[in-house]
Amino acid sequence: MEVEVAQASDLRLDGSKVQARVNGRYVSIFNVKGELYCIDAICYHAGGPLTVGDIEDVDGKACVRCPWHNYIVTVQTGEKLYQKLVKTEEGKLVPGGWDSVGQRQRTHRVFERSGAVFVVVDEEGSFESDKYSSDEACGRRLVSSGGSFGNPKPNPFGARGAGGQGRGAFLGMKNLVSRVTSGHLFGADGKMPFKKPQQ
Ligand code: FES
Repeated sequence: MEVEVAQASDLRLDGSKVQARVNGRYVSIFNVKGELYCIDAICYHAGGPLTVGDIEDVDGKACVRCPWHNYIVTVQTGEKLYQKLVKTEEGKLVPGGWDSVGQRQRTHRVFERSGAVFVVVDEEGSFESDKYSSDEACGRRLVSSGGSFGNPKPNPFGARGAGGQGRGAFLGMKNLVSRVTSGHLFGADGKMPFKKPQQ
């Protein structure tokens, strides 16, 4: 069933994002270079808020980088990407090309019609992100990560662009949770996630 989640104008710009709740699931909708993508909003790894992650081009694929532990997930396929290690002639291990561990984050159909954006939730099969997808505690943290205009919260990890820019707002649409966002601290178990690795 298609569910209206936002006005098309909310997602008009490249890089714009909203998060919504559809059939109980928290989902993120991204505009990347004019294309809309929808994935589960809560990271399969430990419940991080993907909506606030940076959108990056990784190996030619549009990806969201989770602000908690830097996992990289493609917004089109929900695959987690990682960089392989390769041995140099001197026997040193150095980062090589990118590879996929397979789909971990569920993706959903999203489209625009008559000035509105709709999502059709995919509920076929199972994916790792299912375990957090409707978790109320994670959902509350997603909402609180929505930030506020003119009063951005500092990002506790200093993550690159992981929100903290005061773009969030509640827009009053039935299924819209918020536009995006800023940093926050706690994992799905309510505890601090482990330290962000150095880059
Ligand atoms: S990488 Fe997303 S919660 Fe750990």
